[in-house]
Amino acid sequence: MKVIAINGSPRKGWNTDTLLKKALEGAASVGAMTEMVYLYDLKFRGCVSCMACKMKKEPRPCRCIQRDELTPVLDRLHEADAVILGSPIYFSDVTGEMRSFFERFLFQYLNYDDYAKPLSPAKRCAWIYTMNCPESLFDKMGYRALFQRYENWMKLYFGHCETLLSTDTMQVKDYSRYHLGRFDAEAKRIRHETVFPQECQKAFELGVRLAQ
Ligand SMILES: Cc1cc2nc3c(=O)[nH]c(=O)nc-3n(C[C@H](O)[C@H](O)[C@H](O)COP(=O)(O)O)c2cc1C
Repeated sequence: MKVIAINGSPRKGWNTDTLLKKALEGAASVGAMTEMVYLYDLKFRGCVSCMACKMKKEPRPCRCIQRDELTPVLDRLHEADAVILGSPIYFSDVTGEMRSFFERFLFQYLNYDDYAKPLSPAKRCAWIYTMNCPESLFDKMGYRALFQRYENWMKLYFGHCETLLSTDTMQVKDYSRYHLGRFDAEAKRIRHETVFPQECQKAFELGVRLAQ
């Protein structure tokens, strides 16, 4: 059992990274081999619509032919049993790097002959998102639909997907040093000390579930 986490945050050691590490810890605790990929360490582009993966060849290519630092990652993901995608929310979506990764990961498997039958191997999948937004604002911000859409893509392509949310996260350690006046620093600190550990535990359990 191989579980790969794809980290779409530029900040190592922060919210997304911590939750992904916990999920991998959970997977490792039941015997899985685990790997973390930091997208911001890689030089790569999103899909350039070259259409090489859709050429009429036998066997069907179904693989991205762009060659860059994402290529070996896509190869390892093709073979992996489970994948966990983690991203902070930037301007009401995943980060640019995560989106570029997502295009490359899924487009190679997209089947224009029958959308409902992508050419991807089955995998157990999960999304982990972190964000400033509290859950109370999800409907107003359209976040529920966003998370559902990304979960649906993964379910369609790989057959399984769960979503874990970490809301109202701590964005900096010391709020007094920044122009972040709209946030209640004390409330953020308390939440980080009380709720974030629970989210870490949920991430651990998610990793266990994916690896079992
Ligand atoms: C460029 C940028 C845009 C952001 N946009 C949003 C947003 O639209 N909604 C939100 O809830 N948080 C937003 N945030 C806050 C981050 O999602 C939040 O701090 C997240 O937990 C950061 O993850 P990290 O600690 O793993 O880096 C934004 C942060 C940055 C740097």
